Amino acid sequence: MTEAAATTRPVYLADTGFYQDVIQGLSNTPRSIPPKYFYDEEGSRLFEAICEQPEYYPTRTEMALLERHAGDIAGLTGSGCFLIEPGSGNCEKVRLLLDTLHPDTYIPIDISRKHLQTAADKLAKSYPWLSVCPVCTDITDTLELPSIPADTKRLLFYPGSSIGNFDPEEARIFLANLARIAGDGGALLIGVDLQKNTQRLHAAYNDANGITAAFNINLLHRINRELDADLDIDAFDHRAFYNNEENRIEMHLVSNSRQTFHVDGHRFELEAGDHIHTENSYKYTLGQFQELATAAGFSACRVWTDADLLFSLHYLEVR
Ligand code: AVI
Repeated sequence: MTEAAATTRPVYLADTGFYQDVIQGLSNTPRSIPPKYFYDEEGSRLFEAICEQPEYYPTRTEMALLERHAGDIAGLTGSGCFLIEPGSGNCEKVRLLLDTLHPDTYIPIDISRKHLQTAADKLAKSYPWLSVCPVCTDITDTLELPSIPADTKRLLFYPGSSIGNFDPEEARIFLANLARIAGDGGALLIGVDLQKNTQRLHAAYNDANGITAAFNINLLHRINRELDADLDIDAFDHRAFYNNEENRIEMHLVSNSRQTFHVDGHRFELEAGDHIHTENSYKYTLGQFQELATAAGFSACRVWTDADLLFSLHYLEVR
């Protein structure tokens, strides 16, 4: 950073986690930016559009599983529970459970305040009997929730295979935190994407309409918008591929030319081919995921999959 930049830098920028993570991530080798920063307003909208792409099978496969097994899930949980959804987004999937499960209270948790408020209001209108208590927080920080009566069963709901966006060790820590929140007698209903044919995975993250590419590139727009940066968006390409050794899709932003850019006075140089790693999306076998959940303090109770073994839905109980 130059001295001039240091004296003129607005304090509010340097104070945000986004600022710190971007400067740090672009300075690291290899360069990376955490995927949670995809989800500004535009990113959340693009993610919803990804879920509707024909190649992106996880959303519709998981929704079919939720619809088919809502009765089993209600049978395992009982009515009147507190249903808690970390990373609730548009709160659409939970609708598939509400009528059958009939929880007392629904607690959606999300980082995007506006998105959370809109989704929670909409849901509360559709289900007047349900008490909806939204909580705006970063679920990767220590999660603290409003007090819940001690004798009430808690069911945590974590669909969408978002667990795949954590490295396995981070995933274990996150799941252990969910086990702590669910508490004795509590449970977790979680969607997990499965290992499969590489072509199918590749297509899901390289959709023909270019929506996943736009979602990845939006991170650069967000840096320009929020961090006083001058990135040339056209100098980057979207790249997503399956890493067979790590069992994960990797997303990168690849520099297509030699370039220099600035983020709030910090100067960065990239050669053609240099890349910024923006996301991992781990894919599991049923056994691998159950092992991970066990290490986090759960015991595997039930698992449902579709006939093509694309996706899995696990009902885990706190041990
Ligand atoms: C939110 N998460 C589970 C998605 C995934 O598939 O890893 C995010 C995503 N990235 C590109 N397409 C979708």
